[in-house]
Amino acid sequence: MSTNVHIAGLSGSLRKGSYNTALLRAALANLPAGMTSEIVTFDEVPLYNADLDAGERPPSVVAMREALARADAFLIVSPEYNYSIPGGLKNAIDWASRGTDAPLMHKPVALMGATPGMWGTVRMQLAFKPVFQFLDMKQIAKPEGLVAAAPSKFDEQGNLTDEKVKELAHRALEALRDLTLQLRK
Ligand code: FNR
Repeated sequence: MSTNVHIAGLSGSLRKGSYNTALLRAALANLPAGMTSEIVTFDEVPLYNADLDAGERPPSVVAMREALARADAFLIVSPEYNYSIPGGLKNAIDWASRGTDAPLMHKPVALMGATPGMWGTVRMQLAFKPVFQFLDMKQIAKPEGLVAAAPSKFDEQGNLTDEKVKELAHRALEALRDLTLQLRK
């Protein structure tokens, strides 16, 4: 049995200077031993429409679902929009949630989020609970991936500079790896 854990990383923000995409990149640049990763994007994925999901899916959706299917587990790093999950990310998850080959179903996940605000995306993370429940995804319980006051933790170029947050991301990935291996047994 393979001991490698391949993860797909998703950012909930599409903007170039995104704190969350920067956090995702920083996390994946410092992977714990025994892990590989790829970033999966969904910029081109159309709004979910069951009519488009009935036959051959749009190419952008097929590509995204294939990339997600390659992953043993997921790291989702997302902003909080209006106390909840950004629409683009939720839309991508909706596309990935259908069919008997739904590529998120039953898999482990770690969730992180960065915000300039003081609550560290906690409300977005709570909004994810029923989504993970429906998809039977196994979320790591600890550490909690909350990053508040983001502008003080990234430099002008958008690189993560805060050592505590780097350490937090690393520990989250270790927990994700360990949970994935445990469930594989
Ligand atoms: C926000 N922002 C925000 N922040 C927060 O802590 N709680 C919230 O509910 C919201 N709501 C919200 C809605 C919308 C539509 C936008 C565009 C923004 C602010 C948000 O945290 C900030 O713009 C982050 O910088 C977005 O993350 P990225 O793009 O830097 O990764």
